[in-house]
Amino acid sequence: MARNSSMDRQNQSGAGGDGAFEFFDRHPVANNMFEDVLTSLAMSPKRLAPKYFYNARGSELFEAITKLPEYYVTRTEQSLIAERGLEIGAQIPAGVCVVEYGGGSSEKLRALLGVLSPSAYVPIDISRDYLLQQARALHSDFPSLSVYPTCADFSAPVELPEPVDDIPKLAFFPGSSIGNFNRASAQIFLGQVARAVGPGGQMVIGVDRRKDPAVLEAAYNDSQGVTAAFNRNVLSHINTELGATFDVSSFRHEARYDVADGRIDMFLISTRDQRVRIGEHSFDIAENEAIHTESSFKYHVDEFVELAGRAGFDCELTLSDDDEYFSIYLLRARSATD
Ligand code: TRP
Repeated sequence: MARNSSMDRQNQSGAGGDGAFEFFDRHPVANNMFEDVLTSLAMSPKRLAPKYFYNARGSELFEAITKLPEYYVTRTEQSLIAERGLEIGAQIPAGVCVVEYGGGSSEKLRALLGVLSPSAYVPIDISRDYLLQQARALHSDFPSLSVYPTCADFSAPVELPEPVDDIPKLAFFPGSSIGNFNRASAQIFLGQVARAVGPGGQMVIGVDRRKDPAVLEAAYNDSQGVTAAFNRNVLSHINTELGATFDVSSFRHEARYDVADGRIDMFLISTRDQRVRIGEHSFDIAENEAIHTESSFKYHVDEFVELAGRAGFDCELTLSDDDEYFSIYLLRARSATD
């Protein structure tokens, strides 16, 4: 890959020399997929945890979602960073440590590196192999940047790597992943991030906005059926991993926007009565019965700024596209006395 201008900037910024590379394993508790799937299918209504979307096929399909004409989220965020990233960069000190929650979206990070001069990067992800692969690729493209991949489950507080203890921190959480937490959990998560970056520490977060339901429903139910294939893939994944007997073709994808709650809900709807076996266990699923797989919460600007405020952050800058579909916020953690 071509070494781009952001790396040159790195070297010019005085960060020069060889950046460190060190892996920090916080040993996230390996969950038991079998128990987890059985429990969530025994609930009423039935559900399946979104983390099971992401096997190799799932990651490929999600990548395809981000390029769909209807899925404006990724594209809008990218162009906001490309066109107005300097406004963000101007507020962030050189030598900062970027802490990315879910250190996978290297494309977005690379865009951000074009407008920042960080000295260190801490990608945090639960998927060890993926994390290391992405982190190594980044380190070889930006050799002056110290990279400290940290394997952890960030739904709980994460202890950051010791080498970045005394460096000012910028948390990065792109892609409106915050929307996949419910509102209460989103506030708890942001509170944990505020404590991790410490008083005066900053955060850049991309958040999808409430908007016309037709636009939202198209974004989560595209005309090529990629989102439907992505949603159904959770069943194939469970068939493969647990030897379950889901007839994947007898489920249809549905995405519904709840206007009052500002929330997209994704379901798999059974098109017939069926019995599914998983090991010794079996589940009856009625025709038209729904399995909930994912929600995506949307935020008005004021609503998000207020939520971040309750979590201990002040908003320093908001960037939005002309359609007002999506916003990127630069937040700063308050000190206890503010
Ligand atoms: N964070 C993304 C979002 O809520 C995830 C996502 C996009 C997604 N499309 C999806 C999750 C379809 C499940 C199904 O926008």
